[in-house]
Amino acid sequence: MKKFDDILAQLEFSREDLIRMLEAEGAERTALFSAAAARKEAVVGKKVYFRGLVEFSNECSKDCLYCGIRHSNAKVVRYEAADNDILAACRFAWENKFGSVVLQSGELATSFFIDRVDSLVKKIKELSNGELGITLSCGEQSRETYQRWFASGAHRYLLRIESSNPELYAKIHPNNDHHSFEKRLECLRLLKECGYQVGTGVMIGLPFQTMGDLADDLLFLKRIDVDMVGMGPYIEHEDTPLYKHRDLLKTKQERFDLGLRMVATLRLLMPDINIAAATALQAIDPAGREKAVKIGANIIMPNLTPSAFRKEYQLYEDKPCLDEDADQCRNCLEARIELAGSEIGYGEWGDSKHFENRRHD
Ligand code: 5AD
Ligand code: FES
Repeated sequence: MKKFDDILAQLEFSREDLIRMLEAEGAERTALFSAAAARKEAVVGKKVYFRGLVEFSNECSKDCLYCGIRHSNAKVVRYEAADNDILAACRFAWENKFGSVVLQSGELATSFFIDRVDSLVKKIKELSNGELGITLSCGEQSRETYQRWFASGAHRYLLRIESSNPELYAKIHPNNDHHSFEKRLECLRLLKECGYQVGTGVMIGLPFQTMGDLADDLLFLKRIDVDMVGMGPYIEHEDTPLYKHRDLLKTKQERFDLGLRMVATLRLLMPDINIAAATALQAIDPAGREKAVKIGANIIMPNLTPSAFRKEYQLYEDKPCLDEDADQCRNCLEARIELAGSEIGYGEWGDSKHFENRRHD
């Protein structure tokens, strides 16, 4: 069997290598983390970029079996933040030199919704003299819609594949045309063609998921050549159908640890991409984001959702930052201090190096 240090020294990794890395314990785990930290610093540097996250609406036409804001969850009070509140959050991001914002919502494809996102993108560009970078995370849309939002100024898009195994995807989504794995893949292709920096990702520790699935997820990210990745532990939500399989889950701590190993392994596999420290890590461990930054992540997404709405954007249980009075909560301010050993890229877009490299190929 290959020596673990020899595996870490490689530039290409087989599925078996990836599984060994994802299962690393003790000294091997330490070696994995330090190799990933070194690779990150050598390739993308020490900077961490802040993206202000604005969850502007929880209206959703979909019924993903894991998600707390799924259409059929009648306990959720549906909201749409007013333009002024959304723009105030973006102004906060701009004034605090975050460089970029992420507009996220449930998935709708009505012409009202499409127009609204378009007009928000334009207004955010206007209020920041074109300085704020804009990432959208508004689900599956048509090519025309993606093109239109891009033309208005959005330049990055997040759309997680959730699992790259079509069979597992089918187990965590309703089986109908509105929740098709193929459609999701097609959207990722469209986004790239439209010129976006494309981000995707998966949930880690899903019921029925194997180490082989996670290794395949990493190979999938490499194969479709993504620019950005956000992935975090799956966390059960009691008002969702997937909750009934909670007995199959690893402990939250195990899912957290696996999340960190996924981040470190991905940094070695795709050294020049942007990797976000997922909020779901912070839901399990209050210092989770900072731990992820130490071993490979370089993006943090402080929540700037107007505080009145946060409790209605509960994708999973224990989502952090619910009881904050201030729209910018203390945890995030403290995160800046806790990020010892990193520098914060204030006022910079912090675009994915991979995207630049891809364009110049
Ligand atoms: N646990 C962890 N992550 C979740 N998401 C949705 N529901 C959950 C959950 N129960 C993630 C999905 C989605 C992103 C916005 O939030 O990956 O793409
Ligand atoms: Fe940042 Fe809560 S808003 S941790």
